[in-house]
Amino acid sequence: MNQNEKILEVSHLKKYFKAGKGVLKAVDDVSFFIRKGETLGVVGESGCGKTTCGRTCIGIYDRTEGEVLYKGKDVHSLKGQDKKDFTKEVQIIFQDPYSSLDPKMKVGDIIAEGLRAHKMCASKEEERKVVNDLLETVGLNAEHATRYVHEFSGGQRQRIGIARALAVEPEFIVCDEPISALDVSIQAQIVNLLIRLQKEKGLTYMFIAHDLSMVKHISDRVCVMYLGTIAEITDSGSLYSNPLHPYTQALLSAIPIPDPKVEEAKNRIKLEGELPSPINPPEGCRFQNRCKYACDRCRCERPELKEVEPGHWVACHLTDK
Ligand SMILES: Nc1ncnc2c1ncn2[C@@H]1O[C@H](COP(=O)(O)OP(=O)(O)O)[C@@H](O)[C@H]1O
Ligand SMILES: [Mg+2]
Repeated sequence: MNQNEKILEVSHLKKYFKAGKGVLKAVDDVSFFIRKGETLGVVGESGCGKTTCGRTCIGIYDRTEGEVLYKGKDVHSLKGQDKKDFTKEVQIIFQDPYSSLDPKMKVGDIIAEGLRAHKMCASKEEERKVVNDLLETVGLNAEHATRYVHEFSGGQRQRIGIARALAVEPEFIVCDEPISALDVSIQAQIVNLLIRLQKEKGLTYMFIAHDLSMVKHISDRVCVMYLGTIAEITDSGSLYSNPLHPYTQALLSAIPIPDPKVEEAKNRIKLEGELPSPINPPEGCRFQNRCKYACDRCRCERPELKEVEPGHWVACHLTDK
């Protein structure tokens, strides 16, 4: 695969859940791609559909409509060897290292599970060596293999979750808010570990977070989600220097800048109004009731995600002239 090759291509993906008599439109027509070896950050408020999008992309959830291609193959109709390859190549690291690791299993067994499922080690001895190497790779040590997860701190548990994902030598990892549940002091360590592993192993990441400051350091490109849709996608640099969607601008203005002068000069944009329910999302633009630029067109016509500058996609009637 060359550098610009798209490992994941998502088109018009929808994932709806039943909600009483209605439908909850958790993901409602999103299209994007992820290039081999890059990190796509996915941000947006809690409930905007990040987890559902990530899980649907890797086949944990079936889709309602649309298509996800992994290396050109439809994720939701994989069979036989293709399916086996996919379950090995694609892994997920969960938000909550407390609930995602089995408390009754020894750490070594948690990490070895995938190795066994994919018959990756010829002997117990080899397996032990691989597990010990993985523990060291993530900053733990061999003695930890015989312990249980309750003996570890939050940061250490997330390291175990990372080792478990790495064990099967994946190519693509969905990191679903892997640092949100951790102490701020530990967050940078885990992000740096993920960055190092990506460099060493050429991994591709979909890195989900609920605020922009968290994805800044790790992402090559950032996708901003709002109420089941994509507001904007662009490379990290231009997202921070030239945000085009009013929602992105509001999110950015909420990030504190450690320089008081810049902070003072910055025009804070306050998000007015409530986040609407995904059960009866507004017609037209999803962001209209909170957008100070909203006009009649925004109230009836949903803006399409369009490439307004090379590599910069925005779904807003304002930029569509
Ligand atoms: N399994 C599910 N069944 C029903 N509704 C769900 C399910 N998972 C998520 N939702 C709903 O879908 C919306 C998006 O949720 P989620 O993808 O978890 O958002 P995020 O990860 O951005 O916080 C929310 O309204 C949530 O309540
Ligand atoms: Mg989530």
